[in-house]
Amino acid sequence: MKVSLKACDVVIFGGGGDLAMRKLLPALYHLDMDGLLAPSTRIIGASRREVSDADYQSKVREALNEFVPSSVGDDTVWPRFKERLSYVSVDAQQESDFARLNDHKVGGDDRDVVFYLATSPDLFGSICSSLASHGLNEDRMRVVLEKPLGRDLASSRAINDEVMKNFKEQQAFRIDHYLGKETVQNLLAIRFGNTLFEPLWDSAHIDNVQITVSETVGVEGRWGYYDKAGAMRDMVQNHLIQLLCLVAMEPPGRMDSDSVRDEKIKVLKALRPIVGANAYTKTVRGQYAKGMIKGKDVQGYFDEEGSNPDSRTETFVALRADIDNWRWAGVPFYLRTGKRLGQRYSEIVIQYKAVPHSIFSDESNRQLQRNQLVIRLQPEEKISLTVMNKVPGASEGMNLQPVDLNLSLTEAFNDKRSPEAYERLLLDVMRNDATLFMRYDEVEAAWKWVDGIMSAWSQTSERPKEYASGSWGPAASMALPIKDGRNWHDY
Ligand code: BG6
Repeated sequence: MKVSLKACDVVIFGGGGDLAMRKLLPALYHLDMDGLLAPSTRIIGASRREVSDADYQSKVREALNEFVPSSVGDDTVWPRFKERLSYVSVDAQQESDFARLNDHKVGGDDRDVVFYLATSPDLFGSICSSLASHGLNEDRMRVVLEKPLGRDLASSRAINDEVMKNFKEQQAFRIDHYLGKETVQNLLAIRFGNTLFEPLWDSAHIDNVQITVSETVGVEGRWGYYDKAGAMRDMVQNHLIQLLCLVAMEPPGRMDSDSVRDEKIKVLKALRPIVGANAYTKTVRGQYAKGMIKGKDVQGYFDEEGSNPDSRTETFVALRADIDNWRWAGVPFYLRTGKRLGQRYSEIVIQYKAVPHSIFSDESNRQLQRNQLVIRLQPEEKISLTVMNKVPGASEGMNLQPVDLNLSLTEAFNDKRSPEAYERLLLDVMRNDATLFMRYDEVEAAWKWVDGIMSAWSQTSERPKEYASGSWGPAASMALPIKDGRNWHDY
């Protein structure tokens, strides 16, 4: 990582909330541990409640104890980190409260400022307008916008228009934490740092691509939020589509924000719309019922706190996407994601075509499998390429067997700690690099595509299909690639 030692004020709206405590402050703490924060960088929690600096520091300390347990005992980092932390009480809807940020000298001494909006998106517009009316929208000041950016194209546009009244596009960092994951960035290194893969990265060589993000957790007390979103808005519109773009885009001219984002937008525009009756054959929606995960009974979606039995919100989506361009003509991209599935894992599988002609005997042919490149994002970060080999032994004849060439990132890099996605992304905002953030045209194109599917779903009386917790989703999801003569890659 390149170091960002320019002094910066990081102001977190929603500074006492779940995202701040679980992800943002632990990430900033890690950056401090790694010497990546300038000595005078400050971290300022902001939210409606009246809290003293000391109480905020203790709350953060508790969160670090829970979410960074092994390192927070380190007496050299915590005192330094604590000194950076302060708190300002600001009601996001009270413009006059924002004067307290001026009193707190936010942005003083010409320092850069990052305003992280870890709040409901309904507040983004009013926060940005109040910041501007207190002179807190200069070019050296940036806003980070957390998802969900709206619930459809129209609401997303409305939020964006409000933000853009007071900040320029270059100052808006729309975050998708999947882009900060190490293996996702490694996908770019694999594709564009090697000559090996790129010539084979097209419809002449690749049969299909699969992207799976499988979670074992349920809605975890977030029913109120989740039921309004569902898997399509919560995961597909952002995380899965962003992964698809990185797999499918053309090589950018250089690794900078506009070059990369210009290529991603071309993919989004080439996504074939899934509308009308196609939405029934190309997508599958599911809702989890009770079941068992890792030997424990778990409840169904309708047993969760605050649930409503009439809900048709999907907790699982599988779909087939097609990209209408030369490179990907005829190559299906199968995407699936769901809550309360059998295993927590995320991976991208590039399934190559079969050899054009086999020279082997019938017996060997039965063992002949296609090459597969598997990019595992989590739980472990690894990349493996399956190639066919001869089983050793004189008496074995030409016995074939697939063997994985494995690159475990932990082993290859001597157990070097792999940073959390938010560490990389926060560092990038501080050093003003937007390459791993979404430009508004990307968000808009993704919504447009997702809106087509959701509008078709809203016109059917069919409910999402039930699946047992701990399974791999509804049976219809298994059938989705089978209809095309293919299968999901097994975990
Ligand atoms: C978030 C979603 O964006 O991503 C959550 O809102 C989901 O519902 C989470 O659980 C998954 O992230 P990760 O990094 O744990 O795969």
